[in-house]
Amino acid sequence: MNGTQQVRVQPGARLSGAARVPGDKSISHRALILGALASGTSQVRGFLPGGDTLATWRCIEALGVTIERHSATDFTLHGRGLRGLQAPQAPLNCVHAGTAIRLLAGVLVGQPFASVLDGSAQLRRRPMERVTRPLRLMGAQIADTDGRAPLHIAGGRLSGITYEMPVASAQVKSCVLLAGLLAEDATTIIEPGPARDHTERMLRSMGAPVRQDGRCIEIAPGTELQPLDLTVPGDLSSAAFLLVAALLVGRETITIEGVGINPTRTGILDILARMGAQIERRNVREEAGEPVADLVVQPGALAGAEIGGDLIVRAIDEFPALMVAATQAEGETIVRDAAELRVKETDRIAVMSGELRKLGAEIEERPGGFRIVGPQRLRGAIVDGHDDHRVAMSLVLAGLCAEGETVVEDARCIEDSFPGFIETLQQLGAAAAIEGTQ
Ligand code: S3P
Repeated sequence: MNGTQQVRVQPGARLSGAARVPGDKSISHRALILGALASGTSQVRGFLPGGDTLATWRCIEALGVTIERHSATDFTLHGRGLRGLQAPQAPLNCVHAGTAIRLLAGVLVGQPFASVLDGSAQLRRRPMERVTRPLRLMGAQIADTDGRAPLHIAGGRLSGITYEMPVASAQVKSCVLLAGLLAEDATTIIEPGPARDHTERMLRSMGAPVRQDGRCIEIAPGTELQPLDLTVPGDLSSAAFLLVAALLVGRETITIEGVGINPTRTGILDILARMGAQIERRNVREEAGEPVADLVVQPGALAGAEIGGDLIVRAIDEFPALMVAATQAEGETIVRDAAELRVKETDRIAVMSGELRKLGAEIEERPGGFRIVGPQRLRGAIVDGHDDHRVAMSLVLAGLCAEGETVVEDARCIEDSFPGFIETLQQLGAAAAIEGTQ
């Protein structure tokens, strides 16, 4: 998909069958960044070739790293060691990818050269103070514009810190861990909630001394990283769209194969179970230090639920899809403690509420969440994906259960995390088509 592509969705189809989802976005970003810092050659299979991760790919190449691409998803990467990256010739463009800019900031502050991290107008609106603050406490020299990108990084020496994170965020945690790896003494992070731990798992598998004690994570600097040999699991955050589609418009069981079920990511499974969904984990195995399973979902009616606390961070990317599920669930769904949704690619509470209202939904927006009473009748309309992949995909789901045709405009962004989403829905029996002005 390119340009201002739109998706035309017809309701009425009943889905069934089996599907796979692309590689995990968080792990794909990390495979490139950590592989670049390793001493030696990494092998990566099952990489997500999406807009966000390909932005990281280009940044890593601009830092002097050679990547040999064997297919859309498999590559060999020649790591340059902890301090062997090369000064980039131009600002590094992270496009829309928050994970790219925040993790790379942690790496670049400890390199012996200056660099600039930048991105799209959308990324330039997102808060960077959450990473620049701890990095400056470590001694990093960063100039920014009111706490936003572009970030002008001087590069240099860092000292270890003990840092209590004000919000649960895997991007912030990972940024500080990466800077900690390059610092002169140990760094300890205290996290307020269980944010995804892929960085810790991967660093440990590469030989880095990362220790966890409850909510405290400590990294000792200096150790050379061994290269990766990694098969990226399917992305549970992409599978979530298929799970919700199956629950809302499934005909019989739908199986999604090879999905990562790291416990810091399975909030969506817990929430859907609370809403009455039957999702079975079959063939549970471990691949490259991450638990993986086939998910088998039984279509069925959902009931509303109250969601807050630690569950929020474990399902943070799934709330746009959950808002659609809540419009179809019987009774009241209340989400609280989720103000972080307002600083994602878009303000996902405001944007999803606004777009679902165009389809006739009634949503009560709250500062840290929302309240939806279902089931509600949705009527097809023209809606806007706002260049936010998870918003656009959620609106496609809403279209599947609306009356009449729904057109999701500004849907190119689906490629950022789930290339092949529409084709996968078609394969399961949905009537949706991509139409494109380039
Ligand atoms: C991510 C962390 C989360 C998540 C994002 C990916 C990561 O962001 O929303 O899609 O890969 O570390 P926050 O760290 O801002 O919560």
